[in-house]
Amino acid sequence: MPNAMRWTTPALIGVLAATDLLAGCHSAPKITPQQAEGQHVFAVGCAHCHEENDLHLKNVPPNLHGLFSRTTLPDGAPATDAAVRRVLLSGKGMMPSFAYQMTKEQMDAVVAYLHIY
Ligand code: HEC
Repeated sequence: MPNAMRWTTPALIGVLAATDLLAGCHSAPKITPQQAEGQHVFAVGCAHCHEENDLHLKNVPPNLHGLFSRTTLPDGAPATDAAVRRVLLSGKGMMPSFAYQMTKEQMDAVVAYLHIY
């Protein structure tokens, strides 16, 4: 599953980019610069746990695909930007706090990216 996901996302972006080219008009990009920044933050700071569970945590980090298309986060809190930011600031269970590892811009960006993840 994680293997499939690793190429699915870039492949999807490739398809979206190709669609833009084929459309031949100056349509808005499908991924905003902020989301692109968030994608990078996610790849560096989140994916190793949430896609690969490389630390072999017994409490397996939840799959975050489509996080905001559900009404609640995995733990049952409402799926809102504010709730996700709170998790990033405070950490949760085995998930560390990112308060001192990320700028506010990076945090906003990763939240924006999770909306299209
Ligand atoms: C060290 C591994 C690890 C890293 C790194 C990590 N997480 Fe997590 N994350 C977890 C675990 C474990 C949970 C489940 C926590 C629990 O409910 O006890 C979790 C839960 C979550 C949740 C759901 C919280 C809820 O209330 O249900 C979100 C959203 C989340 N992580 C986002 C992120 C984002 C965004 C990043 C990167 C900035 C990240 N995580 C980095 C391990 C990690």
